[in-house]
Amino acid sequence: MKVVSFSCKIYDRQQLCKTLPADWQSEYVEPVLDKHTVVYAQEADVITAFVNDQLDASILETLAGYGVKMVALRCAGFNNVDLEAAQKLGVAVTRVPAYSPYAVAEHSIGLMLALNRKLYKAYNRVREGNFALNGMLGFDFHSKTVGIIGAGKIGRLVGERMKAFGCDVLVYDPYLCEACDELGLKQVELDEIYAQADVISLHCPLTPETNHLINNDSIAKMKKGVMLINTGRGALMEPESLVENLKSGQIGYLGMDVYEKEGALFFEDHSCEIIQDDIFERLLTFPNVLVTGHQAYFTQEALRHIAETTRDNIQALMDDKELVNVVRG
Ligand code: NAI
Repeated sequence: MKVVSFSCKIYDRQQLCKTLPADWQSEYVEPVLDKHTVVYAQEADVITAFVNDQLDASILETLAGYGVKMVALRCAGFNNVDLEAAQKLGVAVTRVPAYSPYAVAEHSIGLMLALNRKLYKAYNRVREGNFALNGMLGFDFHSKTVGIIGAGKIGRLVGERMKAFGCDVLVYDPYLCEACDELGLKQVELDEIYAQADVISLHCPLTPETNHLINNDSIAKMKKGVMLINTGRGALMEPESLVENLKSGQIGYLGMDVYEKEGALFFEDHSCEIIQDDIFERLLTFPNVLVTGHQAYFTQEALRHIAETTRDNIQALMDDKELVNVVRG
């Protein structure tokens, strides 16, 4: 069994080395999978891949030509995979459905708290001996309304935790969320979230329906000064409309762990380069915007879970067992 893992940073490699069986031939490739790096998969039986690896029809065709039987995603989202092409080529695709919903939920709330109380500014001010409180005024979360879009594992955890802060929590999900009732999360229509929520947090998958869900039209339906949090997928938000509505004050706070064009930036050190994405750079100039580089999932527990589930997915293929975490088009 030869397994080639793409987008493998040192921390991924350390965890995978500890977890994958020693009798598998494992290779670790640091760059993302694309048309230039796909050649590393020659002679592989299985490849493992992460959020920004390119798995379009042409890359999948090349992989199938090399004899790759499975793409074992080390992430939950699969919007970067052409599932129809994979199915036609007979390449199985598996994922890690939940590596740590707690990690992502906690990071989402971290963004909310940091934005509200401007902790990122306080850190710098105090280090410079500036103890002035001008511009640091926050608000109580208590009795505010939080709207959650996508009442899955992460969305429900965020809702449950914001209830503990004393917030009213509204959730929108196209499917009935029975668990939400028990947790005291009120399921409503999307427009009610837009109209009522002081904070809106995105926890739905990226699909054709949710692509650019947050745009000029939807933002216009929100309360002035709304706080928007996105730890889902970058393309849930249309970046140009974020800039426009931050300038007008319609968006009061923006916390993002993901960005539509993050593939060209995230997970790498670009500190000595001129970043060419003007929209991204403009977003960073706002004092009420906090961006993290797709790190919401990044906890010890999540890395362990990712490696273990990936190993189990590959083992199931080897043993000709049912692939419980398979994704189909
Ligand atoms: P989940 O599958 O448990 O929940 C997703 C929920 O979204 C489901 O209840 C589904 O019915 C709902 N949904 C589907 N279409 C929708 C729509 N049009 N509008 C509103 N809701 C819709 O997934 P989970 O584990 O809660 O993860 C949510 C998302 O978080 C993932 O799809 C992924 O994109 C993102 N994620 C981000 C990470 C990060 O590090 N920033 C790490 C892990 C996941």
